[in-house]
Amino acid sequence: MSEKQSDPVPPEGVDLDRPSVARVYDYYLGGTANWAVDRDFGDRVLSKFPLLRDIALANRQFLNRVVRHLTRRGVRQFLDIGAGVPTAGNTHQVADDARRDAGAVPDVRVVYVDNDPVAVAHANMLLNREGDATRQVVIEADLRNPGDLWQQAVDTELLDPDEPVALLLIAVLHVHQPDADGNDIGPEAVARLRDLLPQGSYLAISHVTDEGVPDDISEHLVELKQMYDESSSSNVIWRTRDQIAQLVADFELIEPGWTWTPDWHPEEAVPTSQPLSFRTPSEAAVWAGVAQKQ
Ligand SMILES: C[S@@+](CC[C@H](N)C(=O)[O-])C[C@H]1O[C@@H](n2cnc3c(N)ncnc32)[C@H](O)[C@@H]1O
Repeated sequence: MSEKQSDPVPPEGVDLDRPSVARVYDYYLGGTANWAVDRDFGDRVLSKFPLLRDIALANRQFLNRVVRHLTRRGVRQFLDIGAGVPTAGNTHQVADDARRDAGAVPDVRVVYVDNDPVAVAHANMLLNREGDATRQVVIEADLRNPGDLWQQAVDTELLDPDEPVALLLIAVLHVHQPDADGNDIGPEAVARLRDLLPQGSYLAISHVTDEGVPDDISEHLVELKQMYDESSSSNVIWRTRDQIAQLVADFELIEPGWTWTPDWHPEEAVPTSQPLSFRTPSEAAVWAGVAQKQ
């Protein structure tokens, strides 16, 4: 059992009986917003599938490159749903750096959303410490109630519903999104959000797939799904690449289209990006793309 004595006191209502997707992901990325139950699960996963840490890092680096790229394309507001526990290269930090690099004063607004209380509490701590309340906020809301979520985001007055938004759904749609009957309503929720987005908005998605990956990775993904479905707070879903592509519907893909995470605009990488040890990009097992509402 991992050492528990040094664990922080959890925010009220936090379930420490089962590992949470948000906290375990934080552990893979080397964060501290995790408890023994999360680390034990994470260690069991990593002992079977050590490459998962690089897969998580590659996903995070994709997020960073998307934010940088879209900021340079003129986006000034991001809605980051399933933002997770803050870790290196959060959306507002990357966007602000991109603006400074362009010789501008940082002016990008970010609304972070998560339904995990630990992720929200840590984002609040970070923003209270070093954020700008006129440009960044975190709200606790659920992707499965897209209308309410959107209204909450608009009510913060940081999200202007008449101006293009970059909606980030990074590594969240492969988390099972059950309705009251247990059916996954992730794609339905995304469809509603696509409708709500103003014209010119972007939708960025990354999602685990077990299709088109090397055989050993595909075997690991079967095991990984079993472990999450048996023990964690949420089940997971591995969609095919075609099913993932359908999540953007008629939005127009921007270059280079759908790719494995390491292949999406590698030139946008920041020099401090940690090197990854993939033999081929398909080992990243996460299919990623960005599309624009016409
Ligand atoms: C694997 S983490 C990804 C974090 C971040 N987007 C990234 O890619 O680095 C998935 C996050 O989605 C959040 N999440 C899952 N289902 C959600 C829902 N229905 N509403 C809001 N957040 C959700 C989890 O709490 C977790 O923080």
